[in-house]
Amino acid sequence: MPYIISLIIHVFSIVVWIGGVAFVTMIVFPMIQRTESSLEQVMMFQGVEHKVAKIAKAMVILAGLSGLYLLYEKGFSAGAWIMIVVWTLYVSLLFGLEKIIFKKVFTKPSGEELDTKKIFFVLQAFHWVILALSFTAIAAGIWIGHG
Ligand code: HEM
Repeated sequence: MPYIISLIIHVFSIVVWIGGVAFVTMIVFPMIQRTESSLEQVMMFQGVEHKVAKIAKAMVILAGLSGLYLLYEKGFSAGAWIMIVVWTLYVSLLFGLEKIIFKKVFTKPSGEELDTKKIFFVLQAFHWVILALSFTAIAAGIWIGHG
């Protein structure tokens, strides 16, 4: 019973969290690209990303805790390592790296125009990479559960 409850919590948190990443990558970024004003682009992005990052943080913690219990039940395997590596990448992004990257990207040297079209193109490409890695971790989880 604790095993099945942890698995439900694990999959639930993954659905909400990776779903949020997919939403930002596939819907929010294309909306931002279609917006003309740079200021509006930055406002849109920060409004959504702020909320998504908050939810993602909570879900990452839930996924990690439930994952730990699943590990205790099932033991380590190659699939578990893939999940742990992707999870660790997210933790470092959400709890530190992201702030540093945003600061670098959005602070302009005085007098210079921000090239938001280019910035959002790079950020979207980065989100596609993260999403692809997440899909790999999902496949790894299903593999150890059902392979
Ligand atoms: C990006 C992060 C992660 C993703 C996307 C992910 C996804 C998944 C998925 C989809 C399953 C399959 C459930 C099923 O079909 O039965 C699963 C199972 C599992 N996950 Fe994760 N997980 C992640 C992080 C973690 C972490 C950090 C740990 C360990 C600390 C972990 C440990 C496990 C274990 C042991 C199972 C196997 C459960 C079983 O065999 O029934 N996962 N995960």
